[in-house]
Amino acid sequence: MNIEQIFKNNRKWVSDKLSIDSRYFENLAKGQDPEILYIGCSDSRATSEELMGVAPGEAFIHRNIANMVPNNDLSVQSVIAYAIGVLKVNHIIVCGHYDCGGVKAAMEPKDYGILNPWLRNIRDVYRLHNRELTCIQDENIRYNRLVELNVQEQCINVIKTSDYQRAYSARKVTVHGWVWDIRTGKLIDLEIDFDKILKNIMEIYRLK
Ligand code: CO
Repeated sequence: MNIEQIFKNNRKWVSDKLSIDSRYFENLAKGQDPEILYIGCSDSRATSEELMGVAPGEAFIHRNIANMVPNNDLSVQSVIAYAIGVLKVNHIIVCGHYDCGGVKAAMEPKDYGILNPWLRNIRDVYRLHNRELTCIQDENIRYNRLVELNVQEQCINVIKTSDYQRAYSARKVTVHGWVWDIRTGKLIDLEIDFDKILKNIMEIYRLK
């Protein structure tokens, strides 16, 4: 990748936008009012805005290795607090993807140095769903299922936050668990039944 090319691409993008709407950037500069928060993986292939077809201003985006929502990660927790409390988003999406290197690494018995505590969050998801996962003989199917269960657990981590619980009681804020299938390009809604999953555990996490 030629870095100078990026600036050429940018100049073309600016002129393309302005040829359609001469006030495009003037309007963007007025402020943002996105309706969705998207939490995805940093993977260079999982492009968030592009795969959703959303324009600048439409989605507040957070990406990290394996689309995690660790309870003690100040970065993602700040993003959630700001998106809910200030931007007043109505939808929170956690989007994983098949062939996720972070999830793959967490499945391997290997020392990843500074990455260990991050990957341990995914290993904990594995432990929570150990019974289901160990029943899956095919390693690729087990890997795909861990990607899905990781999305589910990160959605639950969103629901555990006081910011989410406060907003949910005041207005409708919906959490969505999605997976992007890197082999077909298609987004898959996991249609997670949160009422069923949370039924027996919400008493533990309820903050108000
Ligand atoms: Co990934």
